[in-house]
This record gives sequence, C-alpha cells and structure tokens, in this order.
Amino acid sequence: MKGVTIGFIGAGNMANSLIRGLLATGVPASSILASDIDLEKLQVLVTNSRISSATNQQIADSADVVILAIKPQVMEKVCSEVELDQTSALPLIVSIAAGITSGHLQDWLGRQHAIVRCMPNTPALIGKGISGLFANVNVSSKQKQLAEKLMNAVGPCVWVDDESDIDTVTAVSGSGPAYFFLFIEAMRDAAREMGLSDETANALVYQTAVGAAELAISSEEDVAELRRKVTSPGGTTEKALRTFEEGRLRELVERALKAARNRSIELANEFGSNE
Ligand SMILES: NC(=O)c1ccc[n+]([C@@H]2O[C@H](COP(=O)([O-])OP(=O)(O)OC[C@H]3O[C@@H](n4cnc5c(N)ncnc54)[C@H](OP(=O)(O)O)[C@@H]3O)[C@@H](O)[C@H]2O)c1
Repeated sequence: MKGVTIGFIGAGNMANSLIRGLLATGVPASSILASDIDLEKLQVLVTNSRISSATNQQIADSADVVILAIKPQVMEKVCSEVELDQTSALPLIVSIAAGITSGHLQDWLGRQHAIVRCMPNTPALIGKGISGLFANVNVSSKQKQLAEKLMNAVGPCVWVDDESDIDTVTAVSGSGPAYFFLFIEAMRDAAREMGLSDETANALVYQTAVGAAELAISSEEDVAELRRKVTSPGGTTEKALRTFEEGRLRELVERALKAARNRSIELANEFGSNE
C-alpha cells in the first residue's frame, strides 16, 4: 500500500480499529486521513495515532481510497454532499455500512465509481474480525487486492461474487458474534445454576469457546468429526447433544440466520427508499 492515501469518512469504532490495524501492519500515519462530524472525537484519534484530520470533502479530493465508515442512516447525506467529480482519478470507494448497496452508493455519488462493500464484525475491534467483501463491476483486480489488504488489518476476508450474498454474510458473521455470546451466556448461567462461582464459570466457558474455535480452525477434520470425537457412546457429551437435538437446535439456528438475512434485505430496501 506504498504511496496510497487512505481516507476515512467517519472516525468511530470501526475506523479506529482499522486505523490501529493499518498502523500495526506498517502503513505510515502520514498516509492516513480521517474526518468526523464530532471534532473532539476526531482530535483524540489524531492525537493518539498521529494521522491527519481532514474534512469529508478534503478526503474525497485527495484520498486514493475513501472508506465510508459512517452509520447507514447518514450515508445518503454524506455521499450527496461530497463532490467527487472534480478529481481526475476517481478514488476507490470502500463502504463498511450495513444495508447500503453499491447501487445506492452509485446513485448518491453520481458517477460510475469503483465500489467495494465490506461487512466486518465486532471482533475487528481486537484485530480478530472477518469481513465479507463484494466488488462492483468498476473495481479492477488491483483495487480488489488493495481493498483486501486494507480489511486484512482487522482479520481475514472472503469475497462474494453476488452482492445479495452480503445479506447472508451479515446474517452469519456480521451478527454472528452475538449468537456465540448468547450461547456463552447460556452455558455460563447453567454452570452458575449448578453451583460454580462466576469466576470459575466464566473461565471454563470462555476458554472452551476459544479452544473449540482454534481447534476447528487448525484441524484438518470437519467440525462434525471433531464433535463425534468428543462424544463417547453412552457418555456425558452424548446426553447433552441428544438434548440439543431433541430441542431442534439445528432448525432453530437455520431459522434464526434466515430471519437475520431477511432483515438485512428489508433494511437495504428501507435505506434505498429514502432517495
Ligand atoms: N461496529 C461494528 O461491529 C460494525 C460491524 C459491521 C459493520 N459496521 C458498519 O460500520 C459503520 C461504522 O460503524 P461504527 O460502529 O464505527 O459507528 P460509529 O462508532 O458511530 O462511527 C461513525 C462515526 O461517523 C460520524 N459521523 C456522523 N455523521 C457524519 C458526517 N456527516 N460526516 C462525518 N462523520 C460523521 C459519527 O459521529 P456521531 O457519533 O457524532 O454521529 C461517528 O463518529 C456503520 O455503517 C456500521 O453499519 C459496524
């Protein structure tokens, strides 16, 4: 990313995580700009990270990559206000906003822009996220590589070819941390109910979650096989898993993810109808 100027419009949680990650991977602070409506918040970021502050328009004028890190509700206003037409080389637009399609951005920005949509998730805050990415037809392969490098600052990336798959990514990994938090919460509460202290219950459940995820990632075996290996016939795990199956856990998970995906589609339609 040598010589590339990266501009963040919106300096909130996600922008902070990305900037931290980019600096940690050796991107010089002098090549990062950020703007925010909240000037105090922006000043804290600038002071802590030594990047430069700018206005939305200055970023639109000078950045090679413009990262739209604002809430979906203000996206139309921000995109309609900035003027990108004056620049000779149009910047790559990277939007991390949920529910805003590349078509909405195209309409609001007013030109045939190269747009990458990203769906990160909250573990990005500690550099352990995963992002789903979609590139519109105007994005070159070099720009795709650039977008991926940027998002790699907070974790790995997966590309989808069809923009509608971003709704599924939202349902799986975007909202996903909350599903695991719920499961962790439920296990922790059950452990407490059976008499363990808060401290012991938390330690057991958190480390079990981390260990299971790391084992699944590092193992060549499928998770179903890893599950079978913990499940001795007639043993304790089998009893618990049978209880989950009787409660139709798998069907419930499928219904929950489909409900999240449908809500993502509805939200995109709602944002689009603001035009
Ligand atoms: N956080 C997540 O886990 C997550 C995951 C996936 C996707 N996303 C997406 O990432 C985007 C950013 O999320 P976030 O959690 O970082 O939000 P955030 O912390 O609220 O950051 C957005 C920032 O943009 C500022 N802003 C508002 N209007 C502006 C304007 N006209 N010009 C410049 N800046 C303006 C906000 O200021 P005020 O606070 O004063 O309004 C705020 O500081 C959202 O679109 C969200 O959908 C977030």
